[in-house]
Amino acid sequence: MSEADRIYDELSRTLSRWGLAAIPFSESASTLRGSQLRDVFTGRTTELREALALFHGRERKRLLVYGWVGIGKTAFILELLGVLRRKAKDTLTTYIQLPPATDLATAALIALAREMEDDEWAQHQLNQMGLRPRKRPVKKKGTAKAGVSSTGIETEEETVLVQSPRFPSLSFEDLLQRALDKYDRVVVAIDDLDKQDPARVRQLLRDAQGMLKGEAWFILSGHPSGLTRDILTREMGLFDLAIELTPMDQSTTYRMLVNYLNSVRPKNARLALDDPKAVYPFTLRTASQLVARSEGVPRWLNRLGSYVMLEAIETQAETITPKVLQQGLEYAERQLRGQKGLTPEDYYVLDLVLEKGTLSDETITLEDLERIKVKEFGEILPILEKLVQFDLVHRLPSERAAEYTPTPLISRESTKKS
Ligand SMILES: Nc1ncnc2c1ncn2[C@@H]1O[C@H](COP(=O)(O)OP(=O)(O)OP(=O)(O)O)[C@@H](O)[C@H]1O
Ligand SMILES: [Mg+2]
Repeated sequence: MSEADRIYDELSRTLSRWGLAAIPFSESASTLRGSQLRDVFTGRTTELREALALFHGRERKRLLVYGWVGIGKTAFILELLGVLRRKAKDTLTTYIQLPPATDLATAALIALAREMEDDEWAQHQLNQMGLRPRKRPVKKKGTAKAGVSSTGIETEEETVLVQSPRFPSLSFEDLLQRALDKYDRVVVAIDDLDKQDPARVRQLLRDAQGMLKGEAWFILSGHPSGLTRDILTREMGLFDLAIELTPMDQSTTYRMLVNYLNSVRPKNARLALDDPKAVYPFTLRTASQLVARSEGVPRWLNRLGSYVMLEAIETQAETITPKVLQQGLEYAERQLRGQKGLTPEDYYVLDLVLEKGTLSDETITLEDLERIKVKEFGEILPILEKLVQFDLVHRLPSERAAEYTPTPLISRESTKKS
């Protein structure tokens, strides 16, 4: 047996001693499959109620889901679409993450075409954009020159820039009509409106007004930094409902932890919420510490949870004691600081945030600015936003000033005694 085989078996053994089939945590909701999401999805009842109430009406609506990085926008949208798929007859649901440099109509066209597998025209549209149709078109043989695909069907969305169709809104309208022949309602969810380019959101929405006011239902998502309530309601009046997702309270976060752990236990071994063993291998104490440390942000719970469990496996711990937890948190910090793609400038700025506690136009000094070789605070905003994407810093939820603090994933403060 190779070393790798041995390590693999050892990891499996530790997990199975805990009665778990895998480490349950994940960083992004889009990597979870439908049934997994159903198992772990927790809370957000008020928000679901608000959104689902709209879907009991017939008049088509536009919804915006917004909130900070990692707060659970994708999870919420996928959960919503999942319910509709299961329960709302005659509704076609579609989902896409806005690809780089793509307008909303093109994104909507792709999302819809992908769900219309049997529609040849839809599949042809995908093919023309260099995307893989769901059903393969008749294969042309041997006409490709070296390195050039003859049909383009091998290309994955992630790796190519989408070749926009000439009239994306018109193509979308056509396809929508075809879909509405078969379905009463078509829902198009476009996730991450502002992840690629926050500055462009306003323009994207302006350009898409015609489509957004058409016959499809839309669910869009973004971060409050790119999309404020302002754009939404007052200025554009584009949305019928804007749902803000905020950090969860501690008891919901605890419930979420239990759901994650239960999701990797055998079906007949799932434990009730009030069972102290429900958080095993965590103890009640370390579970609450982890929950507190996550501050109600689902991605933070997931990231910390997975690093802590990896550390516990590594040390072959029977249970996650405060000491193991502490080691796990330190491990998480090292991993997060060592993420690929961070430049020396990013680290300068990160260290500055750590040093200051809160970094803003107010707290930064001339000396600080000189040290990082910029003239004004505004120049480091892109770096700060990048650090937000990396879960290293967090933008405080204030409407006016941009204030940044370290996330609890890297803050030096050791776990509070409880
Ligand atoms: N209500 C929830 N119940 C259980 N898990 C959740 C919930 N909300 C989010 N999560 C989990 O937290 C992690 C982050 O959530 P998600 O990817 O939805 O965040 P996001 O707001 O879309 O982030 P980003 O701004 O980066 O797009 C995922 O692993 C997701 O499954
Ligand atoms: Mg998301």
